[in-house]
Amino acid sequence: MPVTVVIGTQWGDEGKGRIVDLLAQEADLVVRYNGGSNAGHTVVNDLGTFKMHLIPSGIFSPRTTSIIGCGVLVDLEVLTGELRALREAGVEATGRLLLSPRCHVVMPYHKALDRLYEQAKGEASIGTTGRGIGPCFADKVSYNGIRLADFARPQLLREKLVVQVGIKNRLIEALGGAAFDVDEIIAQYDALYNGIEPFVREPIEVISQAIRDGRNVLAEGAQGTMLDADWAAYPYCTASSPLASGVTGGAGIPPTAIDRVVAVAKAYSTRVGNGPMPTELTDETGERLRRAGGEFGTTTGRPRRCGWFDAEVVRFSCQLNGATEVALTRLDVLDGFERLKIATGYTCNGKPISYAECDTACLQECRPVLEEVEGWSESTGELREYEALPGAARRYVERLQELVGVPIVLIGVGPERDQLVRPHTAAHVG
Ligand code: IMP
Ligand code: MG
Repeated sequence: MPVTVVIGTQWGDEGKGRIVDLLAQEADLVVRYNGGSNAGHTVVNDLGTFKMHLIPSGIFSPRTTSIIGCGVLVDLEVLTGELRALREAGVEATGRLLLSPRCHVVMPYHKALDRLYEQAKGEASIGTTGRGIGPCFADKVSYNGIRLADFARPQLLREKLVVQVGIKNRLIEALGGAAFDVDEIIAQYDALYNGIEPFVREPIEVISQAIRDGRNVLAEGAQGTMLDADWAAYPYCTASSPLASGVTGGAGIPPTAIDRVVAVAKAYSTRVGNGPMPTELTDETGERLRRAGGEFGTTTGRPRRCGWFDAEVVRFSCQLNGATEVALTRLDVLDGFERLKIATGYTCNGKPISYAECDTACLQECRPVLEEVEGWSESTGELREYEALPGAARRYVERLQELVGVPIVLIGVGPERDQLVRPHTAAHVG
């Protein structure tokens, strides 16, 4: 039982939040291990509507401890805002939220650089969320980062910031931005740090003890496999690894402790930001998917690019993550489409090619091999039994499962907690 990892198989926004919300009901620990405030999901419950970027949604279940592991980039402003919203709703995080002092902190100059790099790249921009993720991670791996631990030593923090702000200002001014002032940053960030200081405590022993005791640990991946810097279409990716394997570096969970990897896939494809998306629909059908699915980014509000389900992408993601099961989300969005298409693979210059063999340019140029299947006219949102789904919906799900090669054990048919259908193969999710 110990560790279940939930990951996204596509470009993020697969609906991981709701699967995590479901599994968190039975979790002792919910752990974030990657990404930062670029992630975002909306939690709707009895207490209200919450837009969460950093704090795991386990915070809403009273028996659960929420952990932000060292692999997460912490934005102190965003974190402070989330804590405030929780407090206002009567959710007490004290004693139930741990933040690793090893977390790198997104500084204001990271956000400025994120915007300036994007502007300077023009047509070649990535379409980042503008949260400073790339520049903060770049500082981490080039030995220039500031960690939460640094805030406990004001003199050391000041020395580091003098050096970093000196370097960054030269870059920022050269790119046409406004320089930062060390004292101003310290005044603002010290106050923010004081508010979160009670939560800063290395969580690895809590995690290890929970694993030794056979308690239920849930690791919540942010973003999706198709944004991994190594395995996705570089540079159209994000900085930290969204793979299940990220839990070792990002939270101190040994790979051998993982026994379940729940791969979340949306019943069609969406992407925000630039980069290849072989099944993208730029026509009326894409627009119809966006409208039906309300496909706008949680963090940025940008319209998401929409397209058919790409089984080659999801198959490869499941392979890379060692997926033990698939949770298919948002099947109801496809209600009323007369015909649906599924990409079963790609061709490049007329020859079949696998995702793994494609470089970025090839992913831009390749054509999806599309299989057309029958859609269904009934609405599925009220259905709870797999057998009650329209025949065409079952055939669609079963065809996806066949192509992806991993059992689909859970199907989302709406945003509410109970809007789920479990095919009978579903022995153990939730
Ligand atoms: P960054 O992570 O803000 O640097 O953005 C890099 C790429 O990842 C851009 O294409 C973003 O749109 C995308 N991205 C980052 N976080 C998310 C997410 O949580 N959901 C969907 N896309 C994301
Ligand atoms: Mg999201």
